[in-house]
Amino acid sequence: MARKHILHMITPLKHMSPFDVNMALDAGFDAVVPYVGVGLDEVTGLVQDAIFSRPPDAGADTGIFIAGKDVSLALDMFDAAKKSMVPPFQVSVFADPAGSFTTAAAMVAKVEKALAKKFERTLKDTRITIFGATGVVGFCTAVIAAKEGAKVTIVGHDGAERVKKVAAEMKRRFGVEVAAEDGSSEAKKTALAETAEVILTAAKAGVQVISQAHLKAAGKLLIAADVNAVPPAGVEGLGVHANGDPIDGSGAVGIGPLAIGNVKYKVESGLFKRMIEADKTVAYDFQDAFSLAREFAK
Ligand SMILES: NC(=O)c1ccc[n+]([C@@H]2O[C@H](COP(=O)([O-])OP(=O)(O)OC[C@H]3O[C@@H](n4cnc5c(N)ncnc54)[C@H](OP(=O)(O)O)[C@@H]3O)[C@@H](O)[C@H]2O)c1
Repeated sequence: MARKHILHMITPLKHMSPFDVNMALDAGFDAVVPYVGVGLDEVTGLVQDAIFSRPPDAGADTGIFIAGKDVSLALDMFDAAKKSMVPPFQVSVFADPAGSFTTAAAMVAKVEKALAKKFERTLKDTRITIFGATGVVGFCTAVIAAKEGAKVTIVGHDGAERVKKVAAEMKRRFGVEVAAEDGSSEAKKTALAETAEVILTAAKAGVQVISQAHLKAAGKLLIAADVNAVPPAGVEGLGVHANGDPIDGSGAVGIGPLAIGNVKYKVESGLFKRMIEADKTVAYDFQDAFSLAREFAK
């Protein structure tokens, strides 16, 4: 009898994401089991409980998924899970807190593709300004873009203080240099828009961050991309299905949340499927998500 594919889904939060539960089952796992309110210090115990219950050759049929809403904590849990293996007893691990790794990967891959197709440019040295970078999606987007050599600025909607701390954490953990700026007034957002070649909005659902007035001031803007699918759009005039289409009232092109979501969906589902199909154990984080997103982005 074929061995069952089991996914243990760990979150520090009160609930496991129903989105991720559905995605995992639809990708083909036979059983998914949520563990909620899990502390970092509990990861080793849970992983070792899982690895020793099945013979070593079943390791690749057993997975750990790490959720939550904090990139650094999820990566700490990911590292703790990987360090908990006792070869030959080991299992696969995939981290995607609040869908942020796969969503950020999809957004950056779509922007990269549009830069190449429309402007014959790469991410390297492109000035990318990110709104909502204290959130998980914005944080991860900034790290992926900066690792590709983009000149990234993260913007705080309530001043520069918190984004400066976020930039310091990005430098400490990932070795990337990211600028941090205050976007707490219309005038400050306008000044930031004036220098941006790419604007990425990853703000709270239903919040408009960039208005037509900001777009008019954005004379160097090539691309604006938005992940918020809940009206109003994060960028005024940017359609949810936009896929490199001109943005009303701007010379730039737009990439909307459903165009990004389409790639995000394929990447998350694709990584779950790869876990299921792998002959040997695998470990996937945002870099693996970005590699796969590049294959899907059109
Ligand atoms: N298209 C897709 O496939 C997809 C997938 C997943 C998520 N999403 C969307 O991606 C977005 C980001 O998700 P997330 O989980 O990172 O969200 P989040 O944790 O709610 O954070 C969003 C960011 O928005 C900021 N923010 C809050 N109010 C704001 C305001 N009035 N003006 C400007 N910024 C504001 C937050 O700042 P604070 O730190 O002050 O809270 C934070 O930096 C959401 O819109 C979500 O729905 C899309």
